[in-house]
Amino acid sequence: MTCVLVWAVLASSIGSGFQHGYNTGVLNAPQKVIETWMNETWHMDDSELTIIWSTTTSIMCIGGIIGGALTSLLSNWIGRRKTLILNNFIAAAAGIIMGGSKYVNQPWMLILGRLIIGINAGLNAGVGPMYLSEISPMELRGAIGSMYQLVITISILVAQAVSINKVLGTETLWPILLFLVLIPAGYQILGMLTSPESLKYLLETNEDEKALSESVRLFGEEQGPINLDLIKNEIEDSRLLPKVTMRDMLHVAKYRRPLIIMCLLMGAQQLSGINAVIYYSTHIFKTADLSEENAQIATVGVGLVNVITTIFSVFLVEMVGRKPLLIIGFAGMTLDLSLLLVCLYYVESIAILAYAAVVLVYLFIILFAIGAGSIPWIMGSELFATAARPLALSVAVPANWFFNFVVGLIFLPLQKILGPAVFLIFIVSQAFATVYFHIKIPETKNRPIDEITALFE
Ligand SMILES: *[C@@H]1O[C@H](CO)[C@@H](O)[C@H](O)[C@H]1NC(C)=O
Repeated sequence: MTCVLVWAVLASSIGSGFQHGYNTGVLNAPQKVIETWMNETWHMDDSELTIIWSTTTSIMCIGGIIGGALTSLLSNWIGRRKTLILNNFIAAAAGIIMGGSKYVNQPWMLILGRLIIGINAGLNAGVGPMYLSEISPMELRGAIGSMYQLVITISILVAQAVSINKVLGTETLWPILLFLVLIPAGYQILGMLTSPESLKYLLETNEDEKALSESVRLFGEEQGPINLDLIKNEIEDSRLLPKVTMRDMLHVAKYRRPLIIMCLLMGAQQLSGINAVIYYSTHIFKTADLSEENAQIATVGVGLVNVITTIFSVFLVEMVGRKPLLIIGFAGMTLDLSLLLVCLYYVESIAILAYAAVVLVYLFIILFAIGAGSIPWIMGSELFATAARPLALSVAVPANWFFNFVVGLIFLPLQKILGPAVFLIFIVSQAFATVYFHIKIPETKNRPIDEITALFE
């Protein structure tokens, strides 16, 4: 581990993951004050306001799809490093538009800013982990790769902590919450300007000398040339792999079957209701009769539990294996949400159930983080032969954003119509997921890919 490597890992993981996580969590607590402001300009009735608010939070995912689609284009054209740098100008523009909206009294600017920050998140989610894996020495790739996910969960926590109404989530201060994205943007610009370009990109664009000097910077005089040779070999090996086209993906059983599983995993991950909980936990806690203030503190606790469990799950996945965790997670979440539903129904008559609801939300986060949260991404890549992985991801990532968007958009309106019964949608889909994945998914841990592929054939 050289200083340059640590510097580059921090600049890329914190700079990218922070925007992604922070903006996922930041609108949760100040929903009320921002809604009130929007209503002052647009004078909406209750259901219109609900739809506008749901659009404001979830339009970020549409941006995510756009950003994801731009990932390979930009990162192959101007390089990983410049894409990451450029992306911060997108974030800065979004921050100024979102925060500025209040001062010029234009709610549509907040919605536009959320779309733009989504593009930023989509690019970050694509290029951040790519850059991280391409600058890491082989033996550290797994550990450094999980940095991105960890930063996301930590920054969701940060967002929840600074956005409670004791801190910045107030009528006058909430724009600052949105201007805050300028800080990580500035940090990443400075950090990446002084970081090396991805060695893989330099080799692919035939800048061999530059690649060697950057490799020496990253890994030292001795390891630099050795690691560079390893990367050269990897590039050679990948040129020898058979080409997998989208047509193959859809027609050849060994690709099509895992592709269906992977898309269903992404759907099930979002239909678990996790973002309903992340976006709206304050709201859920208030439904459970906590005071506004206690509800916000309980929401910060959600972020904290998420961080701790995510760290823990990195080890758990290697010990227990993928499939048991996935099934335990989905079965547990089905049961947990069923109980939560009962609590929310009877909370009016039995006050103590409010606290049971809070416990169940926490347990839900734990079950999500050990199973549905992390496993689909790990398994997703393990179900495919190396040659098919990038293409499979190019389907799975937008699928994930899309399901995220749909759940974010429909949750509040449906909750208005159905009340707590809205959770039935999540319960039913999780029950289905538990059974389906139990039957259809093979364990992938410590199993060669040939064996897994043979199963699908
Ligand atoms: C929004 O504004 C309208 C009219 O100004 C008002 O009738 C309504 O109650 C407000 N809604 C909320 C949720 O504040």
